[in-house]
Amino acid sequence: MRKTETLLALAATAAAQATVSPWGQCGGIGYTGATTCSDGYHCQYWNDYYYQCVEGAETTTTGGSDTSTTSVSSTTTDDASSTTTTTSSTTSSEPTSTGGVTCPGTFSKLTAEEYVAAMNPGWNLGNTLDAVPDEGSWNNAAVVPSTFAQVASAGFKSVRIPVTYAYHFSDDTSPDYTIDPDWLSRVEEVVDMALDAGLYVLTNVHHDSWIWMDITAGADQDMIREKFYRTWHQIGTQLACKGPMLSFESINELPAEGEEDAAFVNELNAIFLQALEDSGGFNADRVVNLVGPAMDATKTSQWFEPPAEVKNPWALQYHYYSPYDFVFSAWGKTTWGADSEVEALENELALVPGNFSVPLVIGEFDASQINCEPAGRWKWFDAVARMAGESGSALLVWDNGLDNLDRDTGEWRDHTAVEIVKSRAEGEANSLPDATTDLQATEQDSSAYVFHKVGDAVAAYDLEFSLNGNALESVATSSGSELGSSDYSVSGSTVTLSSSFLQAYLDTTEPGVKETLTFTFSAGASPVVEIVVWDVPEFPYTTTAATSDTDITFSITTKGVDSVAAAKMVLADGTYMFDDWTVYLGPLQQARATWSGQYYYEGDVLYIRAAVSDAVIAAGQDGILTFEFYPRVEGNSVEFTLTA
Ligand SMILES: *[C@@H]1O[C@H](CO)[C@@H](O)[C@H](O)[C@H]1NC(C)=O
Repeated sequence: MRKTETLLALAATAAAQATVSPWGQCGGIGYTGATTCSDGYHCQYWNDYYYQCVEGAETTTTGGSDTSTTSVSSTTTDDASSTTTTTSSTTSSEPTSTGGVTCPGTFSKLTAEEYVAAMNPGWNLGNTLDAVPDEGSWNNAAVVPSTFAQVASAGFKSVRIPVTYAYHFSDDTSPDYTIDPDWLSRVEEVVDMALDAGLYVLTNVHHDSWIWMDITAGADQDMIREKFYRTWHQIGTQLACKGPMLSFESINELPAEGEEDAAFVNELNAIFLQALEDSGGFNADRVVNLVGPAMDATKTSQWFEPPAEVKNPWALQYHYYSPYDFVFSAWGKTTWGADSEVEALENELALVPGNFSVPLVIGEFDASQINCEPAGRWKWFDAVARMAGESGSALLVWDNGLDNLDRDTGEWRDHTAVEIVKSRAEGEANSLPDATTDLQATEQDSSAYVFHKVGDAVAAYDLEFSLNGNALESVATSSGSELGSSDYSVSGSTVTLSSSFLQAYLDTTEPGVKETLTFTFSAGASPVVEIVVWDVPEFPYTTTAATSDTDITFSITTKGVDSVAAAKMVLADGTYMFDDWTVYLGPLQQARATWSGQYYYEGDVLYIRAAVSDAVIAAGQDGILTFEFYPRVEGNSVEFTLTA
């Protein structure tokens, strides 16, 4: 996942009195404790749910090891001759070209095309072995084999296993950079679990990209070359004899600001290949993923250059989290799918296929089910999956453990999203509920729901679908009973639920989700539609004093969809509290705040982040916060005053 600048800024400005002990949490969704780390540590953003006190100062990434030595083994590209040469310093004690591991048995080499086709679609074991300092340090327990069985039985063909090595060096000095053997064994154990479940497995070096490898934060390039080579040499040695279903990816989302940084990422791909070749075993024949700068579609298409000679079968991997405001719920962006947005997505996802005729992997993409409206999210998932299909790219959904698979219960939190990806991988189009896409709309409708306000007269209800060439075959309730001809009718792309059918669910004074209907089409996913009786949520109080540097939290009672759609934040004089440029956005986005950085909702608790109080205090004026709920229609909101 990518950083959100708002959160970084928030973490940097929060100054609580108490200090967090080394490796402790110092921020993130649901976190209300201290945010200042003890001496020698700094608060690092990992994801929206987790900030952590990690070793070192903010811009010092070498962890105090002596990196002045020149014992670097690196592969450089000679532009003039376009050949690859390996240079090794005189003082190096590194095992360059020693022949490496010898494996028993044989290896059936796959082409990258074969591998990419076979791995699609895939799933990411996120926030797990990539957590720091250790597996289990974030929001997920240690991995168990049943997780991979669940992933395979859901129809995924591959798993990407991100691994952060940064805090697992038992000797973090040049030239050894020895990785703790217990950690390498654990990585192997997890890789074996996934292979045993019949999955193709892609593993990498992950958050190291922001720890000791971030040249944009001042890390030393020579140190990175040497330590990165050593890291991959050791991983390669540990996993040298695995079969052809295991593949390697050089480095996750290495920050790169310009062409020079990008050239360094290109060089690291070559060092990665050299280390693998030197480690021996089957590694020189294994499929690998090379990466472009930041694994961003635009930067990759602009600046990625493969090493002059690549012996391994290789694919190019990049990630997709765009548009930012929809994916990360910023500025009230709860709709997606306007023609201009579909076109922008198509253009972005055409860049890498347009520039490189090699097998492609979209190794991460996701829009959280926690805070995105489902019809918009499904359309976005479908558009990404359609474009991946058109370019023959493998598509791997990111999962931080909170968004997709519930690893405790084995349930998929948004089954429709999983089906959308699988159907596209099989070449099928999906029929999906429509929702408002007009960027100038003042209200938002969604056919992922039957919305009925408590007390309104019950009437027949129209749901609009984009059929995409399929036909509706059946509608069933959550208990599996199919609706009959008196329950609904179909006209073109409109499905009308009859008032007699809806009567039993809607004739009530009790708000809530009353039923979940599954719509089955002649092909593609079977999306669900929730029947919701709604009313305006209840807040325990609607005014309180701003409190500097502290989140304000209280329980609210939602009445219908259990979520907060958006929050408008203005000062008493009408000026926007944040991002006054949102005046140029549509009516549903103007003056709206950003999820997680400024507010969020979890369980039944609403959080007004410290940044909001701080803005009110700085302005010396009351803040008027309007919390909006689904459906986003006139009146379904609660106004809250934060007094200066
Ligand atoms: C290749 O990438 C560049 C830079 O991102 C882009 O401007 C161009 O349109 C791409 N070419 C194709 C054919 O997609």
